[in-house]
Amino acid sequence: MEVTIEGKAYIDGDFVDCCIGIVDGRISAIKKILKGDRYYNFGSKLILPAGIDIHVHFRDPGMTYKEDFSTGSLAAAFGGVSCVFDMPNTIPQTTSLQTLSDKIVSANKKAYVDFGIYVGVTDSNVENIEELTEKCSGFKIYLGSTTNSLQLDENNLKQTFKRINSASKPILIHAEDNKCLNGHKMWENNLVDHLHSRPAECEEIAIKSILKMSRNYLNRRIHICHLSSCEGLELLKNRSKNISVGVTPHHLLLNIEKNLKPQALYKVNPPVRTSFDRDALFEGIRNGFVDILESDHAPHTLEDKAGEFSSAPSGHPGVETVFPLFLSLAKKGKLSFQRLISLFCENPANLLGVSKGRIEVGRDADFVVVDIKEDCRINSENLHSKCGWSPFEGWPALFPTCVFVRGEKLIEEHEIQVKQGFGRFVGE
Ligand code: DOR
Ligand code: ZN
Repeated sequence: MEVTIEGKAYIDGDFVDCCIGIVDGRISAIKKILKGDRYYNFGSKLILPAGIDIHVHFRDPGMTYKEDFSTGSLAAAFGGVSCVFDMPNTIPQTTSLQTLSDKIVSANKKAYVDFGIYVGVTDSNVENIEELTEKCSGFKIYLGSTTNSLQLDENNLKQTFKRINSASKPILIHAEDNKCLNGHKMWENNLVDHLHSRPAECEEIAIKSILKMSRNYLNRRIHICHLSSCEGLELLKNRSKNISVGVTPHHLLLNIEKNLKPQALYKVNPPVRTSFDRDALFEGIRNGFVDILESDHAPHTLEDKAGEFSSAPSGHPGVETVFPLFLSLAKKGKLSFQRLISLFCENPANLLGVSKGRIEVGRDADFVVVDIKEDCRINSENLHSKCGWSPFEGWPALFPTCVFVRGEKLIEEHEIQVKQGFGRFVGE
């Protein structure tokens, strides 16, 4: 055995005292007693599968003053995330074989954690989807416009479903209807205006058209990103098995009635809604109705967010804080560890088809070690995103003390142990 890790590990739904053997970066055995060339004993600390964040915007290429693949993936590593999936709204947008392979080559040199890359489907590349399918991790579709987003009309949505004729790559959808958004456009002075300009009705319309369309394509894997309203939740209650639902920490923890300041920092699409929506979504993660927790890490600098509310870009960072926030909530019993691990490890691994997300023989040896007594508060001075701030400043959190990726120690006692380029592309 090359490496053996001993501790209280989450195996098959329970924490058990055991040893995990690792060979060539994969879990090779799980037993009461094992010997290894390198041996780590974590005593009573918890060993969980590392997180998988299926929704990040690392801004590389084109907006690297906000974030780049190295800072974004370093933030992921410190947050206990061993694998991220990057969105296509970069400059240039990831919509062709060339832009996709350029992004993979560049990210391979910079990444601290493993990664996948989505291709965006637009009205102009919908004809070429077949050739992109093999190489990308999945497809992203924007039904409504948002920061540097890619447009696809309803007719071409049908084309997309038709053309992605293998069930092997998922289609992720930003579900806000563009016509509806255009009908509510107004001058925005604050978060309430922003909410009114992107009402739940736009989410409902988009979800209805996805549900209608997907009835004929039951073997396509469809993921609805960042569900934000209880109306949307209601519509998805009887969805077919091929449709999964994701929610973000901000839609689960924030609400418009809170005194969110400065307001521009909390401007995000879809918007933060009412406490009623927030509570319904939170109940959804507790009862298993929601499948995936995704950060929608969308960093913008404080300079970008300064000035007029109306011109501030939407989005905020989240990849480093998502797991620590919810580990802290799990410790307090607000959500079970079982549910959290399904939402942020197991279900993301299933959706993207990666051999991670569970402590199981044959899977990648990606773990986080958590000392349940090491509570802290989020302090943006200690975070690693280039943007330098967090919408969850001061919130209680439990950061992992140690992170393993493919059996290598990535973080030890809150210090990075590997170099840029350690992360590998997992898409193909
Ligand atoms: O608020 C958002 N920001 N929503 C999105 O869909 C895109 C994101 C970004 O890239 O900034
Ligand atoms: Zn996003």
